[in-house]
Amino acid sequence: MIEGIDRITYGIEETPEQWARVRRFYGDWGLHELSTGTSSPTWETLNGAQVCVRPANDPSLGPAIETGNTLREVQWGVGDAATLEQLHQQLQAMPGFQSQGMDAAGVSPDARVSCLDPHGLRQVFALSIKRAVDVRGAAANAYGDIRRVDQASPVYERATPVDLGHVVLFTDRLQAAEDFYQALGFVTSDRYPGRGVFMRCAPQAGHHDVFLLQVPGKALGLNHVAFTVRDIHEVFGGGLHMGRCGWKTQLGPGRHPVSSAYFWYFENPCGGLIEYNADEDHLTPAWQPREFTPGPTVFAEWAIDGGIDGHTRRQPQSAAGGGFLTEKKA
Ligand SMILES: [Fe+2]
Repeated sequence: MIEGIDRITYGIEETPEQWARVRRFYGDWGLHELSTGTSSPTWETLNGAQVCVRPANDPSLGPAIETGNTLREVQWGVGDAATLEQLHQQLQAMPGFQSQGMDAAGVSPDARVSCLDPHGLRQVFALSIKRAVDVRGAAANAYGDIRRVDQASPVYERATPVDLGHVVLFTDRLQAAEDFYQALGFVTSDRYPGRGVFMRCAPQAGHHDVFLLQVPGKALGLNHVAFTVRDIHEVFGGGLHMGRCGWKTQLGPGRHPVSSAYFWYFENPCGGLIEYNADEDHLTPAWQPREFTPGPTVFAEWAIDGGIDGHTRRQPQSAAGGGFLTEKKA
């Protein structure tokens, strides 16, 4: 079974300033840097999911699907060698097929198979590199369901993402892309008929691991990559910290009605957007896919345009001027 996204790799235009900016960005985002070389840094989340950033012209990278800094490879974690062997057979007819560590003797621990998806983006499959972590979000005291007793809920100064959550691509070939993922065992969770499809990598999983969005007139490319944090409090704490560090909110915080998740999107110097995400729906084979018409109220039940200022804890354009209610006026 494919278990989720293990690694994403970006290719960026190389300047010393850009490397410094990327290092500062992922540090502020809350990832841990594994390597300290100048040209091949890798960061990880708490459970060992990785972000790699490479020079755009690195020959080991797959083709770029758009100009500029962007995603160059998605690596999916596979739970067992039998699934990897099956993928090895299945992907051989696909464009750009490559494999290593797979032979008659069996599957080596670092085995990987890859191909290009219908967009030309490299998709890699390997035994999962992620580890189990004892991390828990705060319980909520919903009416009629009291889960937190004699215990305050947390306030985060900053986020430390637990996992990679999902990837969202602008597609210009929606049906071919859905067919590609379906053949790999992905299941459709919800859809915008003819315009978008939310897919999870296993019948029982979080709402989506990949979302493919076809916007008329919009070119192929990366929309965003989402990182899972513990709970809504960490979405707020992480977003406020990123704002204090000077990074630009694209939209958020807010809540998606499709998936139920809380979000906060920032601009990513490596390309596209990046998202803190928490509290998405968990689906089983009993879930029936729904259909929606895309639009602003379907994308966000509510959202803050321009973010929240990390110092005043108010929206920047607040009519109150960002003052606290408890401040004594002169
Ligand atoms: Fe997202």
